[in-house]
Amino acid sequence: MKVAVIGSGGREHAIIKKLKQSKEINAIYAIPGNGGMTEDAILINIPVTDINGICNFAKQEKLDYVVVAPDDPLVAGMVDALNSVGIDCFGPDKKAAIIEGSKVFSKDLMKKYNIPTAAYGVYDNLEEAIEYLRTAPLPTVIKADGLALGKGVIIAETLKEAENAVRSIMEDKVFGASGNKIVIEEFLTGPEVSVLAFSDGKTLVPMVSAMDHKRAKDNDKGLNTGGMGTIAPNPYYTKDVAKICMDEIFIPTIRAMENEGRAFKGCLFFGLMITPNGPKVIEYNCRFGDPETQVVLPLLDSDLFEIMRACTNGTLDKCEVKFKDGAACCVVMASNGYPEKYQSGFPIIVDKDIDATVYFAGAKKDGDKLLSAGGRVLGVSATADTLDAAINKAYKQTEKVNFENAYKRNDIGSRALAALK
Ligand code: AMP
Ligand code: GLY
Repeated sequence: MKVAVIGSGGREHAIIKKLKQSKEINAIYAIPGNGGMTEDAILINIPVTDINGICNFAKQEKLDYVVVAPDDPLVAGMVDALNSVGIDCFGPDKKAAIIEGSKVFSKDLMKKYNIPTAAYGVYDNLEEAIEYLRTAPLPTVIKADGLALGKGVIIAETLKEAENAVRSIMEDKVFGASGNKIVIEEFLTGPEVSVLAFSDGKTLVPMVSAMDHKRAKDNDKGLNTGGMGTIAPNPYYTKDVAKICMDEIFIPTIRAMENEGRAFKGCLFFGLMITPNGPKVIEYNCRFGDPETQVVLPLLDSDLFEIMRACTNGTLDKCEVKFKDGAACCVVMASNGYPEKYQSGFPIIVDKDIDATVYFAGAKKDGDKLLSAGGRVLGVSATADTLDAAINKAYKQTEKVNFENAYKRNDIGSRALAALK
């Protein structure tokens, strides 16, 4: 079968590498992919949001299946468009992708169906939002309604900061139309857990839990990034917590979406906070997480392609989804300066005897050289019997990857290890 994966980051590289293990697949395309993927996929240079371009390519090449990985094409209706030309996809249709595409939708859904989340209000009027802020407890959390390249959440410590945030979103439109409405919500505390789950619209199967490290610097200092590293499983996600999440969050969400006529097929990402009052939903994403996928899929012991097709066909209840015991750690190597200004374009050298998987993100080919070409350049992902061993191994193997101006955090997984002790 001929399969394409839409997207270009480390997450997509992890999906591609896992799909390659499936006997049924004989060609994998990455649209557009990146230069670090050329051993695993054929790169096709079409932008991820070019719905017509991708549909035309899919028809021309007679693709059998397309995995739509990033949020923007999903929210824009890529799956609907591909389905309409007869191509099966992994990923939610436009109606279901709104669970990530609109924070107002997801908050209202949770309220309607009693799914635990932070208390909130929705504002489409600047003056009313500011009026509310004057009485709101601090810190306060302000979220643009629509997609905002992962930057649409502001945690304001003072009234001034909160006002500035609301003005920049609603008045200056720093996130464009995504800021026509905002959500102002209660600040929650507790450890965060990422749970990705397969769903065919009716059945939901959670994957092994993960912990992301979003801040740029050690000890969770510095700016928010796309994610500087991950570990799995997340020790805060105990058996008891998992049961509460399944009963009070996961199943109710899938039923709610079905009930709203928006059955969710694909990977549903639950961003959770384990608060003193129990687990609550911080956010939903309509896709695999990055870099969560780089630790979750290496632990998957079943055929990813079979699972994906079961999600599409509504047969997930009959499909085996097994995870290995053990743990995984992914350390992201970025260009120094990310997420602000940085330099790239430097040759990436990976030692032949590396004992870990390198998932490339910001990398490009220049002749037979591979160059750094972005903020997050790659992730070094290792598995082992214990979390401690996986972390040590991932860090040890980062020494076998070299490029000028490389930066990594040195404490990926240390909070998780402390929690285990
Ligand atoms: P996001 O960009 O949606 O992934 O959110 C970024 C981060 O903001 C999350 O990972 C949380 O750490 C934090 N966050 C979002 N909502 C809340 C909240 N209600 N209370 C505390 N922290 C939050
Ligand atoms: N790692 C968080 C995300 O993919 O949104």
